[in-house]
Amino acid sequence: DKDDMDTRSCGVRHMCTLTLLLVSVCPLYCGASWMRLGSTPAGALEDQDCAGLPLGPKQRDLCRKKPFLLPAVRDGARLAIAECQSQFRHERWNCSTTEDASVFGQQLTSGTKEAAFIHAMMAAGLVHAVTRSCSQGNVTECSCDTRLQGGSSPTEGWHWGGCSDHIQYGIWFSRKFIDNTVKNTSRTSGGFTLSSMNQHNSETGRQAIVRTMATHCRCHGVSGSCAVKTCWKTVAAFEHVGLHLKERYERSTQVSDRSMRKTRRKDQRHLPVDTDQLIFFNKSPNYCLENRRRGVAGTRGRRCNRTSTGSDSCVLLCCGRGYNTHLVRHVQRCECKFVWCCYVRCRRCESMNDMHTCK
Ligand SMILES: *[C@@H]1O[C@H](CO)[C@@H](O)[C@H](O)[C@H]1NC(C)=O
Ligand SMILES: *[C@@H]1O[C@H](CO)[C@@H](O)[C@H](O)[C@H]1NC(C)=O
Ligand SMILES: *[C@@H]1O[C@H](CO)[C@@H](O)[C@H](O)[C@H]1NC(C)=O
Ligand SMILES: *[C@@H]1O[C@H](CO)[C@@H](O)[C@H](O)[C@H]1NC(C)=O
Repeated sequence: DKDDMDTRSCGVRHMCTLTLLLVSVCPLYCGASWMRLGSTPAGALEDQDCAGLPLGPKQRDLCRKKPFLLPAVRDGARLAIAECQSQFRHERWNCSTTEDASVFGQQLTSGTKEAAFIHAMMAAGLVHAVTRSCSQGNVTECSCDTRLQGGSSPTEGWHWGGCSDHIQYGIWFSRKFIDNTVKNTSRTSGGFTLSSMNQHNSETGRQAIVRTMATHCRCHGVSGSCAVKTCWKTVAAFEHVGLHLKERYERSTQVSDRSMRKTRRKDQRHLPVDTDQLIFFNKSPNYCLENRRRGVAGTRGRRCNRTSTGSDSCVLLCCGRGYNTHLVRHVQRCECKFVWCCYVRCRRCESMNDMHTCK
């Protein structure tokens, strides 16, 4: 009887240790991710308790302090995932998400430049969505950025005015919500850790919002003469941010992993890495074949373009495996005519088109 008790309490103790371990490393290495909020339907967050959401301990704390930012967190995740998929729609890796709570599965911790891109996009999405929320007057602690106001260039006849987007608040929130370490990662000796690398790439994402900001002006003066202009700054449409970061992805830099001592050479220089650069540890797989363990979906079944010479061509996308051709029927409205008065009459036109999918 006593033995039985001991085993049981031991079992419970083990459970506790395990749970603690999971809670402390989980937001970074496994399990649920706040990015899952991106697939939460609108309205489902209103009566949610922060404890029931896929958040790490620090994020849960922020959620309790600033529950009014929860819709922006969801919008930011959704924006970032959609834009990632749009930027990569023609490539072997297409930014696909998993059905489970991890959203990107093993991809997030793979140390590849694709992971770097995801981290940057998620951090940027958060800045963007929080900033929009501020500008729409939904958050009292950040409406307009007034620091520019008063500045002017009288000779050129314009001055700062209006409501400039308050991105400093969004940047502050994105850092607080996502970053794990507080160390400045621009100058690390002996290479990066997975965590400091992710943090660097998140910062690159935030800086992309700063770098793509647009200036808008409105003319005043006699009959639109534009003698005086009022100008203000806003965040760019998120597609511009996506494009900006896609370029950084293409020029990303490999850095050394501090935990892999074997690959460290004495003469290896550790230059400070600019916040305009995305960084990664590991060379990417070719993403051709499915590999569940590595979170790779493979390109089987992907639609390819037989006449394209780019990454969506059947040769490149299918990795030389060849493709299947299906005949698909298209029905369209055509030969539309305006009929007096007042409607448009169309015919239905059918066409048969070839569609190619990778074997
Ligand atoms: C601001 O609040 C309104 C009303 O609650 C909501 O409909 C809108 O989506 C919010 N905007 C942002 C960007 O969060
Ligand atoms: C990090 O350090 C660099 C150079 O030492 C400095 O220019 C930068 O402002 C620092 N960043 C932060 C967030 O403290
Ligand atoms: C990405 O490709 C996979 C097949 O490899 C497909 O199942 C998935 O729907 C694609 N995702 C997107 C967002 O296009
Ligand atoms: C295939 O690629 C060609 C050349 O890039 C382009 O003109 C065409 O619209 C593409 N077709 C489809 C179905 O995307």
